[in-house]
Amino acid sequence: MESRISHFRHKFPKSHVCIVNGHIEGVWIVGNTYRGSYSDKYYGAYPHSYLDRVTALFPDLKPLHLFSGMVDDDLTLDMNPNSKARIMADAHHIPFKSDSLELIVADPPYTKEDATRYGTPPVKKIVVLRECWRVLAMNGLLVWLDLIYPQFCFKDWFNFKLYGLIAVIVSTQHRVRLVTILEKNRPK
Ligand SMILES: C[S@@+](CC[C@H](N)C(=O)[O-])C[C@H]1O[C@@H](n2cnc3c(N)ncnc32)[C@H](O)[C@@H]1O
Repeated sequence: MESRISHFRHKFPKSHVCIVNGHIEGVWIVGNTYRGSYSDKYYGAYPHSYLDRVTALFPDLKPLHLFSGMVDDDLTLDMNPNSKARIMADAHHIPFKSDSLELIVADPPYTKEDATRYGTPPVKKIVVLRECWRVLAMNGLLVWLDLIYPQFCFKDWFNFKLYGLIAVIVSTQHRVRLVTILEKNRPK
């Protein structure tokens, strides 16, 4: 965790992350620099520099981008045919073997109203979290961007450990988002 923080600070020296009680905490003020990027064309697209920041924390891990929208990378999954995803699938049934991935970077529609913007049914977040837990290898990491702090232990269904919490601020009058980073833990 400390080497991840040092790498991040090297890439983003003006941005705040630290370790508190064994997990990462931080605040990223990313700014409203959308001009010229795909963000002004795709509803709910990642704010400027968000993915660069995630990569700066996890430079050694190859991510599956879940709910990937316009993200252009090797492993991208979305159910919207208008997205750039290479894997067209429903995040409630991730087409990967159990215990096979090291990192998932997820950006679900945050609300039912958001889902209607993509013509997709509302996301059952508990079911998707369970799917992420299934396909991650033990100690694999889930980076989940949302408006809520998601429940990360649920009955005997899934069990994550908290790895990080980072507030993402774009600018005034925008929703403030929370990155919850979870580490796959043994079943209870
Ligand atoms: C907040 S947007 C993600 C945008 C992305 N971060 C970007 O920068 O382009 C949410 C995405 O989730 C997709 N989506 C909604 N429900 C889904 C589901 N059940 N399975 C897979 N993708 C889904 C939508 O098509 C949309 O692209």
